[in-house]
Amino acid sequence: MCGIVGYIGSKEAKDILIEGLKRLEYRGYDSAGIAMVIKDLEIKKSVGKIKNLQEKCCNWESKSSTGIAHTRWATHGAPTENNAHPHTSCDGKIALVHNGIIENYSALRSQLIKKGHQFKSETDTEVLVHLIEDYFTGDLKEAVIKALASVEGTYGIAVVSSECPDKIVAARNGSPLVLGVGKGENFIASDVAAILSYTDKVIYLDDKEVAEITINGITTCDIESNPTKKEISKIDWDLEAIEKGGFDHFMLKEIHDQPQALRNGLAGRIDVKTGTIHLGGLNFGVKELKNIDRIVIAACGTSWHAGLLAEFLFENLVAIPTEVEYASEFRYRNPVVNDKTLLIVISQSGETADTLAALREAKGKGAKTLGIINVVGSTIAREVDGGMYIHAGPEIGVASTKAFSAQVSALLMLALHFGRMRNLSIPKTIEISEALLKIPDQIETILKQSEEIKKIALKYAKFRDFLYLGRNISYPVALEGALKLKEISYIHAEGYPSAEMKHGPIALIDPDFPSVFVVPKDSLYEKVLSNMEEIKARSGKMIAVATEGDKEIAKIADDTIYVPKTHDLLTPLLTVIPLQLFSYHVAVARETDVDKPRNLAKSVTVE
Ligand code: F6R
Repeated sequence: MCGIVGYIGSKEAKDILIEGLKRLEYRGYDSAGIAMVIKDLEIKKSVGKIKNLQEKCCNWESKSSTGIAHTRWATHGAPTENNAHPHTSCDGKIALVHNGIIENYSALRSQLIKKGHQFKSETDTEVLVHLIEDYFTGDLKEAVIKALASVEGTYGIAVVSSECPDKIVAARNGSPLVLGVGKGENFIASDVAAILSYTDKVIYLDDKEVAEITINGITTCDIESNPTKKEISKIDWDLEAIEKGGFDHFMLKEIHDQPQALRNGLAGRIDVKTGTIHLGGLNFGVKELKNIDRIVIAACGTSWHAGLLAEFLFENLVAIPTEVEYASEFRYRNPVVNDKTLLIVISQSGETADTLAALREAKGKGAKTLGIINVVGSTIAREVDGGMYIHAGPEIGVASTKAFSAQVSALLMLALHFGRMRNLSIPKTIEISEALLKIPDQIETILKQSEEIKKIALKYAKFRDFLYLGRNISYPVALEGALKLKEISYIHAEGYPSAEMKHGPIALIDPDFPSVFVVPKDSLYEKVLSNMEEIKARSGKMIAVATEGDKEIAKIADDTIYVPKTHDLLTPLLTVIPLQLFSYHVAVARETDVDKPRNLAKSVTVE
């Protein structure tokens, strides 16, 4: 995700800022930039690695001890120099870096253009710097506060102006920002890792708080300009731990990122009052939907599992025949696809060779195409006719976790949107949307059970084989649970629809072959219970992922992990979380390389 560093003091700011950005590299980014307050503001930006920016800065003759810098992980607009931060005002006297998403940027941009502001990028961020310019009459903090009053969304920002060279103004709402306290120097960072080598004394800015940072001190106030009192905290973590947010592995961090990843993906897209879903870059309206008679989804691995879930969602909410294909098989099958087909490709990386080939194959045959993608500006994102970014943030652990839940959440919004264009009622859309907006908080309650799940994982880590079972919408969750376990712990695991088990796999069951049942309290609950009885009768051990309050299940399963109650169509967003945690803890117990499992790559760009 994006990173912010700021410095004011008496040392060469450029070196401190570049080093800070390097400390944030682990978070993922695709471009970077720096603004130095010299006499005027001087800006340098580059696409790609920090070393590209560093090379540009080598020839920088001017020296300055005040500046701000940023690594951008593209959300609105491709990773280009124009879209990289810092963004500047029309007169070039104000520069700003931003983390977060400005939800009402499109309305603000139109208003500012009417007032004569000229935009240089496609980003949501740029509206902020023009708004500040609009309010600026000599006091930077006051202008920032006035500008933020018009903004909806999340932000962590740092702002400098050549008119007030002795200060940096920072503010946060929903996007972390920490102020580093030094002697005769002060710092700003979105993540303490960026500044820990200079100071271990920090002030955590709270939401809707604004700070003015000078060489001599830091003052803070709320968004109504009332002064706030802040405590200085001491950081006692080492740098490596901080980069992983205090977690032992990126995978565990990313499992815990899920509530925020989902909130980012949902932000500004659901209007619960009217039952309307706003999906900006879809390029696919009522006319196009009327023209298609089937949906084909193509993807690989975990993204394919998200596709299997989408099949249930589209058939339930949109009532359009939907098929899900392994992208690698689809491309060689001479598939029946024409201009009445909508092809949806799902990909975290946006670079998977098989998925890209499936997209090109379908496009060549006249299909309309949409992408559900995480990495902005990736090849697949550029080649689809339209689509949705899932805004999950960079996924570093090879085993996909937060991308999966963000994909499912995006596909659900897409199904609701298409459903509304056909026959889905407003009350049903509102009911499902309300349930979806509660999911991030509900995931947080499941994450709190990580230690309990670890105890269960330790009991089972010694087994060599597992069967994962679920029915209906829980079947793709079973497949995803099995994939996670085999990828990172190297244990053999198979996913099956639970009723299918009696047609073959039940022959495997004995006390050394445990099963994991995904059994939320939905319409097929009783039937899955019967399948569990069949395993119990053969002395098979069972772990169940069940709905809170279900006492019956604990009498049959050896171990039960509970998830909160939600709408039947949304259970996968909750039941998958314990399975991710279970795999993680089993893998740690087996001492495998969790973040970089053997033989696997994060982005599979070969056939
Ligand atoms: C599983 C995993 C892989 C990917 C697959 C598709 O944890 O990471 O199965 O899901 O390689 O990758 P993307 O989504 O980038 O197309």
